[in-house]
Amino acid sequence: MGGYAEPMNYTRPAMDTSTLHDGPPDRSNGFDRRRFLLSTAALVAASGAISQAGGQAPGGQAPAAPATGSGGAAPAADGPFTLDPLPYPPEALEPFIDAETMKIHHGKHHAAYVKNLNAAMKDMSPLVSLRMVLKRIDQFPADRRTALRNNGGGHVNHTLFWNVLAPKGSGGEPSKELVTAIESDLGGMTKFQEAISAKAMGQFGSGWAWLIVTPERKLAITSTPNQDSPIMQGVVEQVGTPIFGIDVWEHAYYLKYQNKRADYVKAVLELINWKTVSGLYAGAAAG
Ligand SMILES: [Fe+2]
Repeated sequence: MGGYAEPMNYTRPAMDTSTLHDGPPDRSNGFDRRRFLLSTAALVAASGAISQAGGQAPGGQAPAAPATGSGGAAPAADGPFTLDPLPYPPEALEPFIDAETMKIHHGKHHAAYVKNLNAAMKDMSPLVSLRMVLKRIDQFPADRRTALRNNGGGHVNHTLFWNVLAPKGSGGEPSKELVTAIESDLGGMTKFQEAISAKAMGQFGSGWAWLIVTPERKLAITSTPNQDSPIMQGVVEQVGTPIFGIDVWEHAYYLKYQNKRADYVKAVLELINWKTVSGLYAGAAAG
């Protein structure tokens, strides 16, 4: 398969990557901000989890138009989080990942995480960033923790996933700095592929395999169950900033690959958006 060329009539949507950073969702989509602000103090006092705001208030960025045929419209704006369109058409990753899987995965599964996350954060200040919530997920009361952990994790994990993939031939090459780190920390590109494949295959049941930047600014390979993210302190075995991940939930591959997870993992490694991963590495390594 050659390099991917976007159709003439296709407008590449602007992807909201605010969930990849520590700031709050960077959009104003009609949710009742005043209601959120008024209830901030009560929530923070009750949870004892958030001692500082995550950053600036949501900006005035208009929601991007859905990608053509992305499979599932964005959920109603009943909270600060919306389902962004895929950064490419759903068929763009074929033959490695089929369009039907992408439509269902993005338009149904990811959409459900967003919908449920909005419900879980309905009385939380928009000044509290999702990443700050997830970082301190272990400090939330149990009755709130599970919903935030599953749906907040599901949202940040999938947002990262769409962005670190690219149609075959269009993802570029890793930066010189990332190549150097892969060699020094992981033993080289082949070792990286072997290690993350092994983690993906070794994850029992649903979960993710990750390339992360550790607090010591080293690259490491890890995995998490369910929708746990490596940013969840006090929850995951190895904390770090994820810069690449492989979704190994069956919903990510079962239509095309059935039980052949190894074939799917191999396919994902053909689709790495090294330009995005390199940018995330630069940000994480700089702290
Ligand atoms: Fe998924």
